Amino acid sequence: MNYELRQGAAAMDVDAIHAFLGQTYWAQGIPREIVARSIANSLCVGTFHDGAQVGFARVVSDRATFGYLADVYVLEAHRGQRLAQRMVRALLDLPELQGLRKMLLGTRDAHALYAKFGFQPLRAPERIMERHDPAVYQLKSAHG
Ligand SMILES: CC(C)(COP(=O)(O)OP(=O)(O)OC[C@H]1O[C@@H](n2cnc3c(N)ncnc32)[C@H](O)[C@@H]1OP(=O)(O)O)[C@@H](O)C(=O)NCCC(=O)NCCS
Repeated sequence: MNYELRQGAAAMDVDAIHAFLGQTYWAQGIPREIVARSIANSLCVGTFHDGAQVGFARVVSDRATFGYLADVYVLEAHRGQRLAQRMVRALLDLPELQGLRKMLLGTRDAHALYAKFGFQPLRAPERIMERHDPAVYQLKSAHG
């Protein structure tokens, strides 16, 4: 297996990550500059194959009480080899993320992947609120 795990924002390939995230259902159209800033301000892990980044995951956290797992992906040609699990495990094992009171994530269909790491559906969804602008990256009209 010719895969290498790298950690830390500085090791990530922003162009590769932007190319993938810009096509996803959750971050479609995201500008490169926003991707770069999100990486710089997160705990990041990437999977590299022959030097090219083929997977990514990050956690947004205060590194004390709370973390948000985001932007987990593996390029299609490299899926099914436990690479996503390896990245999630590496993030959850970081010293900065030990003893957190809560971690959250959002997913459309990969619940079973995250269940392997103890994530569950919200026990009390009525106690959680969100502020969400799904159109934030869509081009504004000429008047807007
Ligand atoms: C989801 C994704 C990251 C999985 O990557 P991967 O490297 O193929 O996953 P892994 O091989 O590490 O393991 C996935 C495990 O979760 C399970 N699983 C459950 N739901 C899944 C789903 N929707 N997609 C992929 N795997 C899923 C698999 O069966 C597998 O378990 P197993 O090893 O016991 O068979 C990858 O399919 C992907 O990039 N998808 C598109 C982006 C996306 O939807 N990301 C999730 C946003 S939260």
